[in-house]
Amino acid sequence: MKTTRIKISEYAGSLSRAKRLPSVFLTVGTLLLAAAMSPQATACTACNLSFADEVISGDRANTLIGRDLRRAMENQRHLRLDGFTDQNLVAAQLAMLDAVQADSEQPEQPRVMLAANMTPAVSTASAVTGAVRAAANVSATAVPGSPAAPQGGVFPTAEASAPAKPRPLPDYMANADFIEVLERDYALATRPYSTVPQDAPVDKRFHMKLNEGSVYIGNGVVYEGFLMDGKIPGQTIIVNEGDVVEFVVENNGDIPHGMSIHAAYTQTSKYVGSIGAGTTKSVRFRAMTPGVYMYHCAPGGHAIGMHVIGGQYGMMVVRPKPGSYRLEQELGHEPNLELFLLQHELYATGKDAIAGKPDYVLFNGRTFRYIEEPIMTRPGDYVRINFLNVGPNILSTFHIVGIIWDYVYWQGHPEAILPGGQTVTAGPSDSFVIEFRMPPDEGAYTMLSHAVGSTNRGAIGLLVVDAEADVEAHRKVLADGPQFSEMEMRGYKSEATRVIAPFGIGTHPADEPVVFGPETSEVKISIIGNSYHPKVVQVAPGTTITWTNEDAFTYLAGEYSGVHNAQTTSIPDDAEGFMTPLLTHAESHSEVLEIEGVYDYICTPHPYMKGRIIVKQPEYSLGTGPAAGTATLGVWVFPLLGLCLVVSTLALVRNRNGDA
Ligand code: CU
Ligand code: CU
Repeated sequence: MKTTRIKISEYAGSLSRAKRLPSVFLTVGTLLLAAAMSPQATACTACNLSFADEVISGDRANTLIGRDLRRAMENQRHLRLDGFTDQNLVAAQLAMLDAVQADSEQPEQPRVMLAANMTPAVSTASAVTGAVRAAANVSATAVPGSPAAPQGGVFPTAEASAPAKPRPLPDYMANADFIEVLERDYALATRPYSTVPQDAPVDKRFHMKLNEGSVYIGNGVVYEGFLMDGKIPGQTIIVNEGDVVEFVVENNGDIPHGMSIHAAYTQTSKYVGSIGAGTTKSVRFRAMTPGVYMYHCAPGGHAIGMHVIGGQYGMMVVRPKPGSYRLEQELGHEPNLELFLLQHELYATGKDAIAGKPDYVLFNGRTFRYIEEPIMTRPGDYVRINFLNVGPNILSTFHIVGIIWDYVYWQGHPEAILPGGQTVTAGPSDSFVIEFRMPPDEGAYTMLSHAVGSTNRGAIGLLVVDAEADVEAHRKVLADGPQFSEMEMRGYKSEATRVIAPFGIGTHPADEPVVFGPETSEVKISIIGNSYHPKVVQVAPGTTITWTNEDAFTYLAGEYSGVHNAQTTSIPDDAEGFMTPLLTHAESHSEVLEIEGVYDYICTPHPYMKGRIIVKQPEYSLGTGPAAGTATLGVWVFPLLGLCLVVSTLALVRNRNGDA
């Protein structure tokens, strides 16, 4: 095996079209996919979840997924003790887990801090006092000056919501460009642009680091993609209406990244879009329109969508002036619990990402995160959820079992109010502020995307009502994804049941070699969603490999474009490397590989795109090639039948001669 050098300037691949080997012998490719676990499950009636005892028993109790399940069970111990489920069964499972843990030679992994701002459920006397206080708050009558209840669910009229007088133009705007536009802007009933001079004094500054990397997403799965601040999603940004905000965006990765800020009603791309590796840029803007917003990586062009698919996004909340949300007015206090909940999808292949077929759907960076760590509340607690569906493809119908909304605010704008409802329907980048009270019936309230494919892929969690829950008067659960140290990630990678890497090669079944026999003279590889499909193929010597670019956004250049190629990075000793031309949409290019061995290749403009060709003379015999899709049996059957015929005839002749 040798490594080939990458020459970005050279695109003229030399084609060595040698004569193809005669396809005399046929082979079978075998694709052995990991056998699916079908454990016998026991149900936890509190959360309607199944804990599979086979998965967490024996040696498997100390796997990543075994420990995740253990933690979920431990954190729900209080539910079970309250008689929600079969205590004997759970006690037996926990005793078994304790025994396995004690016997294990491996020390227990350091517990990963998932949500530093979440309070564990511990029953104390002060919590009871807190619960009584909360209950008193809930029963308080509406504060003076509360608006009348919304009528018929219609949005308030512009007249009702218009500001009484023009806003003052800030002093730092005095010498701004287009001052006449800004002056008109600040006098309007609607809210001004976010435009400020780039030397305006800053109220809140946020520093963000963008790079490529891996995170653990639960369920034994490691994800390799693109990160914000070393996590998916990135930091939760909370500002007040009117704040001048600065985003300082540092690209400490190896490829271009950037930033798109939905909370800004002005140009931000020219300041923080398309940031080269090792470069830092910044932008200032005034957050004027309250709401729940998405921010995401924006290198430019085709790469914007691909980096969002890769995992670079987060939530930004622009808080309206205090008391703007109606339930706050009615109850006369801030929420007891403010949950920042971001739904998002992760994909195993670029092809699936383009098609919108996620492998996992997550709340705040981890599958089943709040099943494993339920969020505690008390009877009557006022809950506000800042909900954002990042997507990037799937619709969310967020619902909480046992809850009807008091008020929801489309995209978080306090004037876009609707009373009641069982769900909010949010497309990618759509958001709501959702307000309700926890009923005085203790137990688990399951929150989920009611698009059930998403529920079962991980978008589900628990809000628990417990009168003795030890929670602060006003607390926040942020949308930040879990963050891992390098050492922790090494541990997770070594133990992962599965690694998914949409652009590279992981251990998902889609990354297993697709095997073609010599009966297949040409193997076609699509390039789609910044990935090769199939990513890994095994072919016989002399097979023609043809790549076709199925990405459509092929304007621009380099990382910003869906223009792709295939260039070897590692090839067999006697072989020649190849570098195909850059292919725009629907263009194809072919290479013929004669020398046996492993050819690893990448895309020159997107070096994180990885493919592999294994050239191998088949070792084998009778059967059918699963990937080739070509019936090979006949080629064997006819000679065999012929042989049988000859033997039978000879036997007949011999018998006859014997008879004679
Ligand atoms: Cu990026
Ligand atoms: Cu590419």
